[in-house]
Amino acid sequence: MDSYPTDFTPKRIAVVTGANKGIGLETCRQLLSKGIKVILTAREETRGAVALEKLPTSAPTDVVFHQLDVTDSRSVEAFANFVKSQFGRLDILVNNAGILGKPPRSQLPPNSVSTEETYQGALDCLNTNYYGAKRVTEALLPLLLLSQSPRIVNVSSIYGKLQNIPNKDLQKEIYDIDTLTEDRLDELVQSFLNHFNKGELGKNGWPTQLSAYTVSKVALNAYTRLLARRCPTICCSCVGPGFVKTDINGNAGILPVQEGAKVSVMAALLPDGSPSGLFYDQNGVSPYE
Ligand SMILES: NC(=O)c1ccc[n+]([C@@H]2O[C@H](COP(=O)([O-])OP(=O)(O)OC[C@H]3O[C@@H](n4cnc5c(N)ncnc54)[C@H](OP(=O)(O)O)[C@@H]3O)[C@@H](O)[C@H]2O)c1
Repeated sequence: MDSYPTDFTPKRIAVVTGANKGIGLETCRQLLSKGIKVILTAREETRGAVALEKLPTSAPTDVVFHQLDVTDSRSVEAFANFVKSQFGRLDILVNNAGILGKPPRSQLPPNSVSTEETYQGALDCLNTNYYGAKRVTEALLPLLLLSQSPRIVNVSSIYGKLQNIPNKDLQKEIYDIDTLTEDRLDELVQSFLNHFNKGELGKNGWPTQLSAYTVSKVALNAYTRLLARRCPTICCSCVGPGFVKTDINGNAGILPVQEGAKVSVMAALLPDGSPSGLFYDQNGVSPYE
């Protein structure tokens, strides 16, 4: 007698942004090994295609590539249409794409002493790490809401902790999720950029070192908490991968990508009924402050 497979449960479908290298690529690898169908995305087609070749699959349909530049609304819209037409829903979104907003020290010319941030670098950083994650999330939200157990994982950082914002009033306002709104959060981000442009960061209690990266991750954390409140059926989490050896820090990190990606994968596969709106690091739940 012929034998037929008995498990007809459709595979869960995950999207990972910025997945052509580093923690994103490793997140795809680990999700695949857990039996998840993965849509690997990258802003640049060739880099994405090369990355796809590095992943082992048991079936050619386990992983697909699609272009996605999180800073480009048209790319995001085209990507959301692709997911809708090919899969009809989405179970897991990992907002992993990120930039530092300035070159890591190790990539500067040997005699260079300055690693100062530029205003353009700050704009790019906010547009990728905060607005980019938000743009992709909002475009994919209707498809996530069709999933039986939707998960959103926002890859943040220890820099996203509120203690990195010297202004205590700002800390308090961003922490108080019952009164904070998404519009107000955007206003605060814009005010950071205005102060940056005028050279008035310190005077206004913003961080002065790695300032755009810090504010981008603080805003991403707050957005995650607001999203958890707005969408109670979606389990939304932030993760801090630890100091991981990747290009973002000029490979100065100490943890291998396998360790960093583990935290994203854990949050992506949290069991149904898990609390939403929490921050996880290598050791489990971690405070936002
Ligand atoms: N490594 C660490 O120690 C560390 C610590 C805390 C948090 N994180 C976070 O972890 C995430 C992954 O970083 P990583 O360490 O793996 O660094 P990475 O190796 O530099 O990877 C960053 C990824 O983001 C992509 N990306 C940048 N801008 C993009 C855009 N506009 N649209 C789509 N993709 C874009 C990059 O693509 P390209 O190759 O095209 O540039 C790359 O694939 C980031 O959010 C980062 O902030 C990392």
